[in-house]
Amino acid sequence: MVMKRALIVFGIFAASGLAYLSAQTDLSGIWLLRTSNNDGTYRKTFFKLNQQGSGLTGSVDFNYRNIEIANGTVDNGKFHFAVGNGRRQRTVEGSLTGDRLHLEMKSADGKVIEEGDAQRSSEQAMVPPPPRPLPALHDVPDNGLARTPPMGWNSWNHFSHRIDDKTVREIADAMASNGMKDAGYIYVNIDDTWQGERDASGRIHANTKFPDMKALADYVHSKGLKIGIYSSPGPTTCAAYTGSFGHETDDANTYAEWGFDYLKYDWCSASAIYKDTDMQRLYQVMGDALQATHRPIVFSLCQYGREDVWNWGAKVGGNSWRTTGDISDNWKSMSKIGFSQLKIAPYATVGHWNDPDMLEIGNGGMSDNEYKTHMTMWSMLRSPLLAGNDVRDMSAETKSILLNKDVIAIDQDRAGKPAKLAKTDGETEIWTRPLAGGATALAFFNRGDQPAKVTLQWSDAGVKAPKHARDLWAHKDVKVSKTGYTAEVPVHGTVLLWLK
Ligand code: GLA
Repeated sequence: MVMKRALIVFGIFAASGLAYLSAQTDLSGIWLLRTSNNDGTYRKTFFKLNQQGSGLTGSVDFNYRNIEIANGTVDNGKFHFAVGNGRRQRTVEGSLTGDRLHLEMKSADGKVIEEGDAQRSSEQAMVPPPPRPLPALHDVPDNGLARTPPMGWNSWNHFSHRIDDKTVREIADAMASNGMKDAGYIYVNIDDTWQGERDASGRIHANTKFPDMKALADYVHSKGLKIGIYSSPGPTTCAAYTGSFGHETDDANTYAEWGFDYLKYDWCSASAIYKDTDMQRLYQVMGDALQATHRPIVFSLCQYGREDVWNWGAKVGGNSWRTTGDISDNWKSMSKIGFSQLKIAPYATVGHWNDPDMLEIGNGGMSDNEYKTHMTMWSMLRSPLLAGNDVRDMSAETKSILLNKDVIAIDQDRAGKPAKLAKTDGETEIWTRPLAGGATALAFFNRGDQPAKVTLQWSDAGVKAPKHARDLWAHKDVKVSKTGYTAEVPVHGTVLLWLK
């Protein structure tokens, strides 16, 4: 009897012990991983997990984006799952010890990109704020800026989040002394990750990487350059830093007080609150706010070319608008963007430019011929020329591409006529553009992986047989016949002629 009771007691104890153990190894719930950005700010990632036996489902919430997890498994408190796919796929593995969920997130190429301990969270995952009423549409007046496509530098392509006050000053020093300023590269633009928190009065402060924005703007101005900043109409930027949602006037006033001359305004998390069809009104809010400061601030729209922005970008006060998704430093990305732009070239007008994204020249992912094609296409398209490399440290070849004054002159030409396709043959394309004073720019491109001989008959391009022709990459005058010109174009390369 005693024995039997002891067994029953033991049985109850063992069962509750097992229940206790299994409770501790159940990953189900909402977990919050708070990671330092090492600049006084933190980013939050929520893991919404649901464990059933050895299976794990759920989603990851970051910056108002919710992504389903895939292939989730749990074995003895150790777990593994994947998020996203392709190049953007992340794998997450970790273990649960007590109340701590240790996680390690790796990129597709196996690099650890996030590591830390998540805690059970009473906070629900990212809930977007309710939309604010949007104003009726009206035409924001032309601010009179950017009469030719803006030229300068932007931090994102090369530095990403590794940008700070010291680096921006060094970039400005370099641009003032390495020939860039003289060639017209004037704007020194800080992209995402400068932002700190907003105070109770609504004023945004920079994070610890930028101790004094006004002093930084003064410094850049002292070099004869101008300075740009970055924000989003959403509550957060694409890198999950504080955006301007509901604080457009506060922020425009702060940028003006600091002495900024250029704003890139990036849609990002606004998509969690608004529909694409609301974009025009939301961009207009910032267009109006910038003009109300009475400081000349170039307004650069970044919404990846959605909603045919070239039809309304100028009406919201925009000086330029991105026409595509993000460029990457490789031939496939750059050429896909460049060769898709001719059809919208006519929408660029004085002060209001198509922006096929910042330059990658000098970042190392393309050959010099490919970078020449990049510079030629962007100049033929009258695009903003925003260098995206580390201009403190440029090879002679990179410098000779970015600082080719004859090519820059094509970009900055004031004739106001768009480039058009003169001829396409296999993997080659020939573009022409009428320039000021009756000159013509003629660009040959070769997308193929063999060198190509490409001939243009003047009559095919509606061009008069020129008296004078100059090859702007070879830096020499060339002989042309009465009927046309044959260019030898290297693999992924270009030949650019100035004709008159
Ligand atoms: C978006 C933009 C980029 C850059 C990043 C910063 O992706 O298109 O040009 O500004 O955001 O987070």
